[in-house]
Amino acid sequence: MFRLRMTSSLFSLFLLSMSFIMAAAQPAGCKIRITDKGLDMLKFETQRFVEEELSNISMPEMIGKEGRFQYTITDVKITELNLTHADLQFVPEVGLLFDVQNSSISLSFHRRILYWFFYDTGNINASAEGVNINTVLSLIRDDEGRLKINNITCDAKINKMRARFSGTLGKVYDFISKFLTSGMRFLLNQQICPALNHSALVHVNAMLDTIPVRTEVDQFIGIDYSLIDDPVVTSRSLDMHFRGMFFDLSDPHQHAGELRGEPGDPRVRPDGLPRSVRVLLRQWNVRVLQGGGLPDGHHHEK
Ligand SMILES: *[C@@H]1O[C@H](CO)[C@@H](O)[C@H](O)[C@H]1NC(C)=O
Ligand SMILES: *[C@@H]1O[C@H](CO)[C@@H](O)[C@H](O)[C@H]1NC(C)=O
Ligand SMILES: *[C@@H]1O[C@H](CO)[C@@H](O)[C@H](O)[C@H]1NC(C)=O
Ligand SMILES: *[C@@H]1O[C@H](CO)[C@@H](O)[C@H](O)[C@H]1NC(C)=O
Ligand SMILES: *[C@@H]1O[C@H](CO)[C@@H](O)[C@H](O)[C@H]1NC(C)=O
Ligand SMILES: *[C@@H]1O[C@H](CO)[C@@H](O)[C@H](O)[C@H]1NC(C)=O
Repeated sequence: MFRLRMTSSLFSLFLLSMSFIMAAAQPAGCKIRITDKGLDMLKFETQRFVEEELSNISMPEMIGKEGRFQYTITDVKITELNLTHADLQFVPEVGLLFDVQNSSISLSFHRRILYWFFYDTGNINASAEGVNINTVLSLIRDDEGRLKINNITCDAKINKMRARFSGTLGKVYDFISKFLTSGMRFLLNQQICPALNHSALVHVNAMLDTIPVRTEVDQFIGIDYSLIDDPVVTSRSLDMHFRGMFFDLSDPHQHAGELRGEPGDPRVRPDGLPRSVRVLLRQWNVRVLQGGGLPDGHHHEK
């Protein structure tokens, strides 16, 4: 569900920020610039996505022995995840930074404890506080001209772990909770970054794969809007340069460059935006930010 929403919001973000440049000399047919405003739109979805991905972290069984004390921890589950102070920023020449600070993670696990001749079993609720996660996504153009995450660097820290023990061995738990929770903290630290790495490189890239780089404009022509180079990231924006070329559907390999912006071409409106692009945008229910309104009819002279 979130994946679908994330995909469609990425898609609409791209379209909404699209500005067409119809200068014949320019190699890029169109350019998308994502600014701070676009990032704000994406921040919320990114946060939801990360929350969902992290809530699925699974942890291995922990078995240990400390003096007369033996324990087994299983079924570690994340019950609640509050990512607060989330931020999404541009990283010049690299891509994007997603950063959360002072967040909290609640979890539950099953314990089996043996201390002298006491045996105790049950569930424990615990929480990790002061969770800071810092992730940098490095963005590139792939061979097919799609935006991709090339790699991520990630750093996760948990300041505090708390566990509430309510068993027959209350006093013992006070003593052992410190090292149990520090073990949990270590495990959580080790799980967060690999989970995010996998989410970014496998799940997000798979979503990006579903965004088409070629589409039909009508029954005769299609538009190719694959990326022609890596995204250009500055501290204030992320620019993507798209081919933005029309091609004849009956001959997809021949890029019909001459369909672009020739004076007198009936598909090109005085304001420079070809009719077919307007129709395309209208099909996607996107408002054209440049120039006048959409044409009433769509005539294709062939
Ligand atoms: C969470 O994990 C389960 C089992 O591994 C899987 O079926 C589910 O699709 C995962 N959900 C997400 C959002 O990754
Ligand atoms: C997480 O946020 C929800 C509301 O957004 C709040 O009810 C809950 O107490 C928070 N949990 C923690 C562990 O901070
Ligand atoms: C972090 O969150 C706790 C409560 O969850 C709050 O008491 C504390 O002031 C916060 N610290 C910062 C630096 O925001
Ligand atoms: C753990 O928390 C859940 C609710 O989040 C509660 O139902 C359960 O009783 C708690 N378990 C313990 C052992 O405190
Ligand atoms: C990450 O990707 C960038 C390209 O976007 C590349 O320059 C860099 O070397 C890569 N880093 C690693 C550790 O692979
Ligand atoms: C990140 O995930 C990729 C693809 O699954 C994998 O090849 C790489 O080793 C992972 N890197 C880290 C640091 O986990």
